[in-house]
Amino acid sequence: MSKPFYITTPIYYVNDRPHIGHTYTTVLADVLARYHRMRGEQTYFLTGTDEHGQKVEKAAAARGITPKQLADEVVANYTDLWQRMGMTHFRLIRTTDEDHKAQVQHLFKRLLDKGDIYKATYKGLYSVSDEAYVTELQAKELQAQGLAHQLVELEEETYFFRLSAYQDRLLKHFEDHPEFVQPDFRFNEVKRFVEGGLQDLSISRTSITWGIPVPGDEKHVIYVWFDALLNYLSACPANTWPPDLQLVGKDILRFHAVYWPAFLMAAGMFLPTTILAHGWWLMGDDKMSKSKGNVVRPDTLLHFGNDALRFYFMRDMQVGYDRSFTYEGFIDRLNADLANGLGNLASRTLSMIQRYRAGVVPLPSVLDADDQELADQLLAVFPAYLEKARASDFNGALDLLWTYLRALDGYIVRAEPWKLAKDPANDPKLDAVLAILYRALRATALLVAPVMPGLAQDLWTALGHSTQVADSTFHGFALDGPAVGPIGEAKPLFQRIDKEKEMNEIEAAAAPEPVPPTLDVPAIRETVDADSFFKVDLRVGKILEAERVPKSDKLIKMKVDLGIEQRTIVGGIGKAYEPADLLDRLVVVVANLAPRKLMGIESHGMLLAASDNASKPYLIAPPADAQPGFLVK
Ligand code: MSP
Repeated sequence: MSKPFYITTPIYYVNDRPHIGHTYTTVLADVLARYHRMRGEQTYFLTGTDEHGQKVEKAAAARGITPKQLADEVVANYTDLWQRMGMTHFRLIRTTDEDHKAQVQHLFKRLLDKGDIYKATYKGLYSVSDEAYVTELQAKELQAQGLAHQLVELEEETYFFRLSAYQDRLLKHFEDHPEFVQPDFRFNEVKRFVEGGLQDLSISRTSITWGIPVPGDEKHVIYVWFDALLNYLSACPANTWPPDLQLVGKDILRFHAVYWPAFLMAAGMFLPTTILAHGWWLMGDDKMSKSKGNVVRPDTLLHFGNDALRFYFMRDMQVGYDRSFTYEGFIDRLNADLANGLGNLASRTLSMIQRYRAGVVPLPSVLDADDQELADQLLAVFPAYLEKARASDFNGALDLLWTYLRALDGYIVRAEPWKLAKDPANDPKLDAVLAILYRALRATALLVAPVMPGLAQDLWTALGHSTQVADSTFHGFALDGPAVGPIGEAKPLFQRIDKEKEMNEIEAAAAPEPVPPTLDVPAIRETVDADSFFKVDLRVGKILEAERVPKSDKLIKMKVDLGIEQRTIVGGIGKAYEPADLLDRLVVVVANLAPRKLMGIESHGMLLAASDNASKPYLIAPPADAQPGFLVK
């Protein structure tokens, strides 16, 4: 017997609530899992949460709660959302689960004993937001992107994984398994990265406490990615290894296609069959991010039902590429394909069978050329759809199916069944038309069941079945077989969305957009002499702690390191920045400003920021290699 099909999503960080980007990956996994079940395969689908690491530790500290409390809170959001989205995962693994912690420590110890993990000292740059050491080259890239504030200098004792020893074996595996990473253009990026040479990977931290301790050396905690990647192993049911398909976003492909297989090789385990990297949902051309205020939450879209969102994700995103999200596009797609398209076809067909044949689906006696053409198309579309779905190409599969549904609309127009019904001499033709439309809808219900479980079931029931469509299998289904019985009641499959009304509501509910920057600035101030200017002592500082001042939406209290001393500074930047986004940033501080009290807290200095009269402040960021305490002049 073949092993169960095992499919995974990344495990999500718990420092934010889920947005549609996270939802997309999990929907894709669920659709594929349901698809494989309907292929008759036993299927395990795993998702989870990634709960350790500095970001969670700091985000929790900024709110005055423990990291576990923060994680519990966010996990509840995920559990609730996945339930509302109709997900069929067998487990939501949390990296704080005991069995996972034991698994991580066990494997760490094994690789340590084997010599694949060793202890040494790291000295260099570290990216706080990526929680990773950064090479000179990567640092330059970050600087070029204006993300230099994420970098800090670090020297620490750490455990390394001997990644460099796996370069050749990885390249060999890539060569022998052309399906290992999809799509191909991403595989090429991975190959080029590995060919460029691999350095050993630091997999422990002493600067963090929120994590799984290194067994026998507890001042070290195990680096989040070593911890996180092993979730797929911890949660794997017996006789199910290795994963058949691992879905990841393009941003985390390297971890999955390079580090992860190297860890598994070291452990002497089979590697996953395929890592599939999908693109991002963008807002315009921008990445969705909380700080940009452009995040779309699934809750906003869920009142159209989870089928709608699942369909939109699968229909509009070509796996591998980025795609811009718009509310208009979302509504237009649903109206065109579900309310009109399929919805219309179903209600016309069902009401005609009801009216002309009292609900009994006729058996056709003869087919003319047009009937035959449409019947043949179904026999071709069905396997072609399944093949595309197997390759995770639901965009292509659904496109194919909807092209066929449109062809059926044309077929109805040509056949004019309402005219046929007027003369019993036309019965054979009318029988053929009704039977062909019925078969097409029945096949459609089967094919879209993984994508839209609820809508497919409604259609299946309306077509007269008393079974669960999801319990059917694609294989061997008699596409031209007779109906199981009379059809059921015809209800609209999908309610047309009033676009104008919805758009008005969405706009009214949307958080106020950040005011776009303008050049509404005052004239240049009057000349000062150099001596006066140099009286102002400007220093590079680094924000060590940040928290909101209670009862103020504007003020943030920070502890800032000036190299020679630490200061409390209260800044009016709370509308533009979250405390967690400020941590470890380098800033420019007016260090000799007279202290003043803000909401009862004495502030010793001021941070320099750029802004116009109306928009948010933009904190001035010194380059990453500047040291706290440097004089700015
Ligand atoms: N915790 C790590 C993954 C560890 S897996 C062993 C992580 N978490 S994440 O929450 O930041 O991201 C999880 C997934 O969501 C990633 O695959 C990422 O690509 C995906 N997405 C985040 N934003 C996205 C969009 N805007 N669009 C599509 N997917 C996006 O990385």
